[in-house]
Amino acid sequence: MTPGKAARLAAPSVAFKQSFIEAVREFQADDYPWNAGSMGRYREVDVDVLERDFASFLAGLEDAAGRSVKPGLVPQTSYWLVEDTAFIGRVSVRHRLNENLMRVGGHIGYEIRPSRRRQGYGTLALRLGLEKAKALGIRRALVTCDATNGPSRSIILANGGKMEDEIEMGEGKPAKQRFWIDLS
Ligand SMILES: CC(C)(COP(=O)(O)OP(=O)(O)OC[C@H]1O[C@@H](n2cnc3c(N)ncnc32)[C@H](O)[C@@H]1OP(=O)(O)O)[C@@H](O)C(=O)NCCC(=O)NCCS
Repeated sequence: MTPGKAARLAAPSVAFKQSFIEAVREFQADDYPWNAGSMGRYREVDVDVLERDFASFLAGLEDAAGRSVKPGLVPQTSYWLVEDTAFIGRVSVRHRLNENLMRVGGHIGYEIRPSRRRQGYGTLALRLGLEKAKALGIRRALVTCDATNGPSRSIILANGGKMEDEIEMGEGKPAKQRFWIDLS
């Protein structure tokens, strides 16, 4: 299966509220075997609070200008991968790297809701995220994944990733693989 032509990156918005809340329930019930840490941001979300006050949740996300809610972090833009009014996943684009992102996080993060996985959306999410990075003037994007996260590595390689190295993350944690993608 391949993503529909209508799949696109959009600014987080109330238009996707019901679908996003369903996706949060999926994330909370999901047990992705290769990268448990990445779903932290949805595990903590209280669905009842989202139902009552979605506007405050949206206000807490980074906007198109990269305004970061947490001081000290680099500017980052949150996008949602959507299809019509369905929320499919999220893509975060960091406008530049700091020491930690250079080592671990990279320029782009992505996550696809469990019910839409294995249909090509992850590969599309990174491709669209790279377009946003290029538009920001980034000529070489750093993308990373856990050495144990085969699906994410496939996505990076399918988008032209060239492996730089593998960084040990310490006892009990998977090593981080770093890839560069040329956008020039
Ligand atoms: C990793 C993730 C983004 C993949 O999304 P996806 O929409 O399933 O990705 P795609 O459909 O584009 O598949 C990419 C490749 O991974 C493979 N794949 C995806 N899920 C798989 C699974 N559960 N088992 C085996 N292979 C899998 C696909 O078959 C495809 O392989 P191919 O390139 O050889 O055809 C998704 O599983 C996810 O959100 N995981 C949790 C968050 C995460 O790990 N994010 C990445 C952080 S670096």
